[in-house]
Order: sequence, then C-alpha cells, then structure tokens
Amino acid sequence: MTFLRTFSILTLLFAASALHAVNQDTESKTIQDGVYTQAQAARGSKLWQNICGECHVGDEFVGEAYMGSWSNVPVAELFDLITVTMPEDNPGSLLDAEYAAVIAYVLSLNGLPPGEDELPAAYEALQEILIQGPYVQ
Ligand code: HEC
Repeated sequence: MTFLRTFSILTLLFAASALHAVNQDTESKTIQDGVYTQAQAARGSKLWQNICGECHVGDEFVGEAYMGSWSNVPVAELFDLITVTMPEDNPGSLLDAEYAAVIAYVLSLNGLPPGEDELPAAYEALQEILIQGPYVQ
C-alpha cells in the first residue's frame, strides 16, 4: 500500500511539473504586453537622434509596412540584426542596453504600450517576446 501511494504521488508530481513546462513554453509575451518603460524609450530617443538619425528617419520603422515584416518573430532577432549590423558605419558600437533602449523607442513610435519592466538587453530574454501588431501610427 505504502509503495503504491508513494508511486501515485510521484506520478502526480511528475505530471504536474510536465504540465508546468508545457505552460511555460506556450506562455510567450508579445510587444503588446508593456515590455519596455517610458524612461527607456526616452533614452532610446536621444540615441536615435544622435546616432541612427544620421541615416534613418524615425517613421521608417513605424507601422505595418515595416513591423509586419517581423510578424511573430521574437524581438531577439531584431536585436540581433541591429546589434550586428547597425550603425552601418560602426556596427556593434553601442552597449547592449543602448540597443535595447533604441528598440524600446521604436516600440513607442509604433504606439505600443510601455510597462513596469525595461525591455531586456539580452538575446535569450528577448526570445520570450514576440513581435505582433496592431500598430498605431
Ligand atoms: C551610416 C548610416 C546608418 C546609420 C548611422 C544607421 N543605419 Fe540602420 N541602416 C542603414 C542602411 C544603409 C540600411 C539598409 C537599408 C535600409 O533598410 O534603410 C539600414 C537598415 C536598418 C534597419 C532595417 C534592417 C532590416 O533589414 O529590417 C534597421 C532596423 C536599422 N537600420 C536600425 C538602425 C539603428 C537602430 C541605428 C542606430 C543604432 C542605425 N540603423 C544606424 C544605415 C545606417
């Protein structure tokens, strides 16, 4: 009897932890969920004006026309692209936190809501956040 009870408790525990793991996998956030802060976007705005604005206008990356091309892709991929290729004349010259701030600024330009936590400045954490519209121009 004792053996059987122990066995079934273990089975239950195992099933519960397996369910939990599945849940975590499907529980991705999107950029609609308040994934950056207003202060972070303000820092990004300054960097954008000083550095990126030399070659880009802000609204180049606003709206479905641009953001739609990233639909359902994790923010990690956008972060990766920008950190590796931009600014075109000096790639990788910003700190990771500065790249994250610039992305926060682009999210704010797209009318996405700010929240309590900063957009992470790390590829792994950004894998958890998907790019999804709608966008407000
Ligand atoms: C010296 C010029 C220059 C600077 C400075 C620059 N870029 Fe670019 N950027 C380009 C060029 C050229 C392209 C490719 C053509 C295009 O998409 O506009 C590009 C493309 C991009 C793209 C589109 C990539 C894609 O394939 O979707 C993004 C996003 C971007 N830049 C972000 C930035 C950010 C953020 C900064 C500031 C940290 C920055 N750029 C600074 C020249 C520049």
